[in-house]
Amino acid sequence: MRAELKSVCKCYSMADGTTMKALKDLSFRIPERSFTVILGKSGCGKTTLLRIMAGLERPSTGEVLGRDGGSIGVVFQEPRLMPWLSVRKNVEMVLEGDLDRAKKAGRVLTQVGLSRFEKAMPNQLSGGMAQRVALARALAYEPEMLLMDEPFGALDYFTRRELQGELSSLVKARGLTAVLVTHDVDEAIFLASRIAVMGNGRILSVTEEIDSESMSFEERDRLRESILASIENGG
Ligand SMILES: Nc1ncnc2c1ncn2[C@@H]1O[C@H](COP(=O)(O)OP(=O)(O)OP(=O)(O)O)[C@@H](O)[C@H]1O
Ligand SMILES: [Mg+2]
Repeated sequence: MRAELKSVCKCYSMADGTTMKALKDLSFRIPERSFTVILGKSGCGKTTLLRIMAGLERPSTGEVLGRDGGSIGVVFQEPRLMPWLSVRKNVEMVLEGDLDRAKKAGRVLTQVGLSRFEKAMPNQLSGGMAQRVALARALAYEPEMLLMDEPFGALDYFTRRELQGELSSLVKARGLTAVLVTHDVDEAIFLASRIAVMGNGRILSVTEEIDSESMSFEERDRLRESILASIENGG
């Protein structure tokens, strides 16, 4: 699935009567089967952009094209599991009405390495396991597009590395179109087929196609430096 934002503005009315422009005339294309990673300072509009792409929020002006009919899976920064439901029921929740839901939930839980924890309750899981359940839930109804807002932000370095590897394989194996927001430049370089830097409600730069596996140490360093500079200059 592809998507395209055309001249999207998003304004919020603030309590003091002023208007906050979170997105400013933003145009951006998400090509089919790309893995786009969005980087940018806190408050620059990343979550707003993702929520608009997901259809959870509407632009004030401008339009979102593509997306027709296809389903979109969303993973938020926190796992957002229902504490009173088991791991499997949390995944089944999004498959309501599907007669195969138990089997499908079992399958995605196996894919994220949690088949032994199907019956566990959310409070018995570690942070990384809970985030895996959230990923399984987003994958369960076989979305064509996966949107993720700092899904590994709260995890330790090693767990994050492990989940990044799993996510990368899953996205490739399923031929998904993915968009991920992060603050971690190395995570961006590892996962992305292209990196977009945002600043102050706008897209400041988008890289060429990248493939971190085929990059030399020096190339990776240079890319990291240029992305950091772009974020820094973005205000
Ligand atoms: N519902 C809302 N009402 C009012 N202002 C909002 C709302 N949602 C976001 N904003 C404002 O829009 C701007 C962009 O917010 P957004 O959450 O998109 O930033 P972000 O880039 O995701 O930041 P972070 O990296 O901290 O998550 C911020 O100034 C924020 O205060
Ligand atoms: Mg955010």
